[in-house]
Amino acid sequence: MRILVLCHSFNSLTQRLFDALAADGHELSVEFDIADSVTEEAVALFQPDLLLAPFLKRAIPESVWSRLPCLIVHPGIVGDRGPSALDWAIQRGEAEWGVTVLQAEAEMDAGPVWASRVFPLRAATKASVYRSEVTDAALAAVCESLACFDDWCAGRWQPQRPQPDDPAVRGTLQPLMRQLDRAIDWARDDTATILARIRAADGFPGVADALFGEPCHLFDAHPAASEPGAIADAIPGDLIARRDGAVLRATRDGALWIGHVKRVGGIKLPATVAFAAEAAKLPERPAPLIRDAADWGELRYREEGAVGVLSFDFYNGAMATDQCRRLIDAIDFARSRPTRVLVLEGGADFWSNGIHLNRIEAAQQAGGSAADESWANINAMDDVCLAILQLTDRLTVAAMRGNAGAGGCFLALAADHVWAREGVILNPHYKNMGNLYGSEYWTYLLPRRVGDAAARAIMAERLPLGAPRAAQAGLIDAAFGADRPAFEAEVLARAQALAAAPDYAEHLAAKQARRAFDEAAKPLSAYRDEELARMRRNFYGFDPSYHGARYHFVMKSPQSWTPRHLARHRDRAGASPAK
Ligand code: COA
Repeated sequence: MRILVLCHSFNSLTQRLFDALAADGHELSVEFDIADSVTEEAVALFQPDLLLAPFLKRAIPESVWSRLPCLIVHPGIVGDRGPSALDWAIQRGEAEWGVTVLQAEAEMDAGPVWASRVFPLRAATKASVYRSEVTDAALAAVCESLACFDDWCAGRWQPQRPQPDDPAVRGTLQPLMRQLDRAIDWARDDTATILARIRAADGFPGVADALFGEPCHLFDAHPAASEPGAIADAIPGDLIARRDGAVLRATRDGALWIGHVKRVGGIKLPATVAFAAEAAKLPERPAPLIRDAADWGELRYREEGAVGVLSFDFYNGAMATDQCRRLIDAIDFARSRPTRVLVLEGGADFWSNGIHLNRIEAAQQAGGSAADESWANINAMDDVCLAILQLTDRLTVAAMRGNAGAGGCFLALAADHVWAREGVILNPHYKNMGNLYGSEYWTYLLPRRVGDAAARAIMAERLPLGAPRAAQAGLIDAAFGADRPAFEAEVLARAQALAAAPDYAEHLAAKQARRAFDEAAKPLSAYRDEELARMRRNFYGFDPSYHGARYHFVMKSPQSWTPRHLARHRDRAGASPAK
């Protein structure tokens, strides 16, 4: 089928559908929802059989839906309508939520239903549920809808309109959630209520509140492990300590770590960076690397027999210079342990998204140099890659539980074995960030996996790759696990099998020989120097593309055109108004 994907931006859900439908043989093109006239033009150019809208913030124009079947993915159960579907479900603590694919009509989200799915609603942030359960359910419901398409065209099947009196239809019209609905009363609300409120607003828009007497929006909250002594004396709302960029705030029945905040007119940053002077006065309560999972911290190490597992759960997968340094220390610690296999499992939602663009932008806004901060950050990322590449006394596994982009993708390729959860989306390219050349030893790591021609194509096409396709292409070694628990269990089993394999010593010797051979052919330092020479030009050269792209990415500037590599209908048409 020819499917035009209309979206507010090419977000993770849209990328997953794009990848999976392309793999199924559909012909796809993408247009960003910029103006009705642009959508009309895209339809005229592409002549699609169907329009699919996975992520829209506005209604599709009648001129389009009255002539072409338009399927909307709504992140809510059948009957649910409104722009804050997931926010309400998470804040209310629904046990089950869902996704509905419905046909566009005049009234938003009220058209006939083509397919739907439900799932148990996990206690997690809105962004996490969206990237995981909502995305899986959306893919299943979209595939079911497409399977009905021929019958619908032939008049053999009709989508059903939800009936308000049907007891099976639980959803209703829900209003836009306002900050008033999200407000926290620190004196009255318990930890669970506050946590649900912040999670329902994370990653956007956050909960309007205040820290150190200054207004800000709160994100990234985690319950503190019970430490009765320290917390018991605090008044609800008090700030007690700091750790890994977060501040610990007392509630009436415990305490919460608040990881990220957005000050008025500012950008989203770690709480201790946004309130640097104030937070510096709080006592630091470092997280030991080996500790209970319930005790929050960015880095955690555990051992299962001969397998070490290191997680680095950096918010949004962004890795600033200081976070990279702490990760290197953790890798050094893991190296000191008598294990045979080290599993690097990234974060629960993201493996890694490379250098921390918000922190770089913040350095500039604070009067520093974005170029200097970018340079420090990319060097720190390279040092993390090098630390993994130099772990030659044991086998390493990158276990990608969540998505990865740009340098974060290549960081994974530094491991000996690269495994990803089936639903993971990879963006193994840099160019979308203002033509960035990239480092992280990608010029060594990518061609050795896929060959020179495929490496060039992956970099140039700038498209997302789902884990199964990435495995087929040889970019990664395996894609498995329908969900995170299944993936984690299988990773552990596979890693233990590697550690216990009778030919473990031969595997390790082969790894060491290959590294020595590669180093003799061209040292890692030469790859790094060449890449960084190009990056230096990106950061300090006369072409400001990277700085412009980073600014727009961080500020979330609205899209003004659809990139040509996505809007394929514009290539077919030759010259067109879009860039
Ligand atoms: N630095 C800082 N923040 C980052 C980031 C980075 N490198 N990568 C992603 N984020 C943030 C986004 O701003 C967004 O923030 P929000 O919570 O305030 O909304 C959040 O992570 C999720 O990103 P989003 O783009 O919405 O996720 P996605 O799954 O739809 O898209 C990517 C994933 C990887 C395609 C996209 O995030 C991206 O292009 N990231 C930049 C990668 C990059 O160029 N890194 C630098 C070069 S090494």
